[in-house]
Amino acid sequence: MINRKKMIIGNWKMFKDMQTAVSDFSILVDLIRHQGFNDMCIGIAAPSVFLSELCRKTSNVLTLFSQNAHWEKEGAFTGEISVPMLKSIHVNGSLIGHSERRQFFGETNETAGKRVGALLKQGMKSVLCIGESLQERDSGLLEQVLSKQIAEALNATGLKNAHDFVGSNPLEPLFSIAYEPVWAIGTGKSATEKEAQQAHKFIRSFLAEYFSQEVSEKIQLLYGGSVKVENIKKFISCADIDGALVGGASLNPQQFAQLCENAI
Ligand code: PGA
Repeated sequence: MINRKKMIIGNWKMFKDMQTAVSDFSILVDLIRHQGFNDMCIGIAAPSVFLSELCRKTSNVLTLFSQNAHWEKEGAFTGEISVPMLKSIHVNGSLIGHSERRQFFGETNETAGKRVGALLKQGMKSVLCIGESLQERDSGLLEQVLSKQIAEALNATGLKNAHDFVGSNPLEPLFSIAYEPVWAIGTGKSATEKEAQQAHKFIRSFLAEYFSQEVSEKIQLLYGGSVKVENIKKFISCADIDGALVGGASLNPQQFAQLCENAI
């Protein structure tokens, strides 16, 4: 049984201005440093305009993520950000295929997979976000939807070797998945412990078939959707849940630090 490192990522979405972002980030770095979370990876996925400023303040205490990354190295893609651009300012990785990208900006499993592939090829972390709508869950399509989201994205990465997904540190693989049921995002209605564990267990078994049992046991799986200070513990105690992707409750640095502490 592999001891997977816990990972908690705050998703700042399209909130804050530069001043607030820098100030909140610095407060968070201090709180995390003092509390000492050695065996946990704590990260922030910040709006891209703040990234280069925040990179100077991480002091290796926080892992910095972008909220998206394009698959081409460069080109005529107005409004997009490339992986080499992120790498050049020392960003560690990116969220990919968040349900808001899928819902409002036409992200598909295939485009998400291409983005994941581009990150992994550059040795950067990639958190693929997946999850079903309420209608899909109610129609009994949960496993079908998740399998399709994962398989189509993985096939589109252009990577064949499982090692490309793990990278050089098996305790902290480059590739991870955030399971975020769409009906739980920003609604205050999180999945129950049982629902979340069931979905994560299914995802891990799918990865075991796609890659191998060994690789599936290394990959970190995060739960997302109305994770709060009060409920993080119940998710993190589930056998197949290795952390959380946190939206609203990550905006306040004190609250987010408390959430991370409650996850220990
Ligand atoms: P939430 O958002 O925690 O506000 O529900 C989660 C997410 O969108 O990643």
